[in-house]
Amino acid sequence: MASIALNGVGKTYAGKSASPVLQDISFAVADGEFVVLVGPSGCGKSTVLRMIAGLEEASGGEIRLDGVRVNETPPARRGLAMVFQSYALYAHMSVFENIAFGLRLARVPKKDLHTSVHTVARMLQLEHLLDRKPPQLSGGQRQRVAIGRAIVRKPRAFLFDEPLSNLDAALRADMRAEIARLHKQLGATMVYVTHDQVEAMTLADRIVVLGPMGVQQIGAPMALYERPANVFVAGFIGMPKMNLVEGAVDAHGRLALGGVPLDWENAAACGSTVTVGLRPEHLVPDAGGAIRGTVALVERLGADSHVHLEVEGLSRPLVVSIKDAPPAPGSAWAVTHAAGALHVFGADGVRIEPRQPAPAGNQINIISEAA
Ligand SMILES: Nc1ncnc2c1ncn2[C@@H]1O[C@H](COP(=O)(O)OP(=O)(O)OP(=O)(O)O)[C@@H](O)[C@H]1O
Ligand SMILES: [Mg+2]
Repeated sequence: MASIALNGVGKTYAGKSASPVLQDISFAVADGEFVVLVGPSGCGKSTVLRMIAGLEEASGGEIRLDGVRVNETPPARRGLAMVFQSYALYAHMSVFENIAFGLRLARVPKKDLHTSVHTVARMLQLEHLLDRKPPQLSGGQRQRVAIGRAIVRKPRAFLFDEPLSNLDAALRADMRAEIARLHKQLGATMVYVTHDQVEAMTLADRIVVLGPMGVQQIGAPMALYERPANVFVAGFIGMPKMNLVEGAVDAHGRLALGGVPLDWENAAACGSTVTVGLRPEHLVPDAGGAIRGTVALVERLGADSHVHLEVEGLSRPLVVSIKDAPPAPGSAWAVTHAAGALHVFGADGVRIEPRQPAPAGNQINIISEAA
């Protein structure tokens, strides 16, 4: 397997408008690592994959495989396998021939070809389907054939472009588990594009968040969830979406939301207007809670309910995710935020950490107690 590195890669498609689609994209994928690329529609995720595969030329920067520049290397010689959202199987060929296709092109001897196809078919539980043709398969089976076709060539790395987005929810969950298992079994380097939060959070060793301004943050899924570097990542990672509302930092550095003081302080942020991020699952119903309002809407999802709480001074309701029986719409309700689960972003959108006043007084107390 191979490592992949993008250094300052840019892309401008030729044409009338010719404005850059991607600028200065840099990230590295270690040998055997599973990296998931997420970002809003049109931000250039597929373009990044296609440039790594060599199907699209980079307009600037460098792409390296195992440390070797491959910008000028044609796709076939890069040794990567790409799995698309549309499976692009040959409808008139059997499953066996679809999987074997690349090996036949590479003139692999017949005996080795048979062994390879059967090994892959066994791995993907396709053995009983080898004689069928793609139109006689379910969506999930077709997807497995497409993956089989990629695996059988023993590529240096896999590139997946939203491979599961055509499948229904149950099949997606099955295939997700399948891909996780495959990654373990093959120890393969994978770059995987998805819109699905669950896929990103569960499959990735690291997530690369792409935004309109390029790479927004790179990190382990839980690191992005717990400490988003900016408002963009905060709003993008997490389901349901983080509440992002306007807050104010007073002259002493204390944060307030709609006039309600919150447990966050930073003297360096005095007098500024900030964006406060509160995850719906980190707001807790509490009759004595400081964040009070009126229930505007309740969405019951089964295990959870989303309560939309209208709070005076806030331009939009706070969404609160709870497991217990929800309050009635129109009723008064109060919540607190779980300790430490508060995100604050400055006017430039960048995260600001709380900074408590120096604990000098406390230290003196401790010393005197010990004495
Ligand atoms: N061949 C092309 N010629 C010109 N512009 C293109 C071409 N392919 C893509 N683009 C533009 O480049 C931008 C990025 O496209 P890309 O397909 O990489 O986005 P994406 O992040 O994969 O989006 P989605 O999530 O919708 O699949 C878009 O604005 C798109 O219109
Ligand atoms: Mg795409």
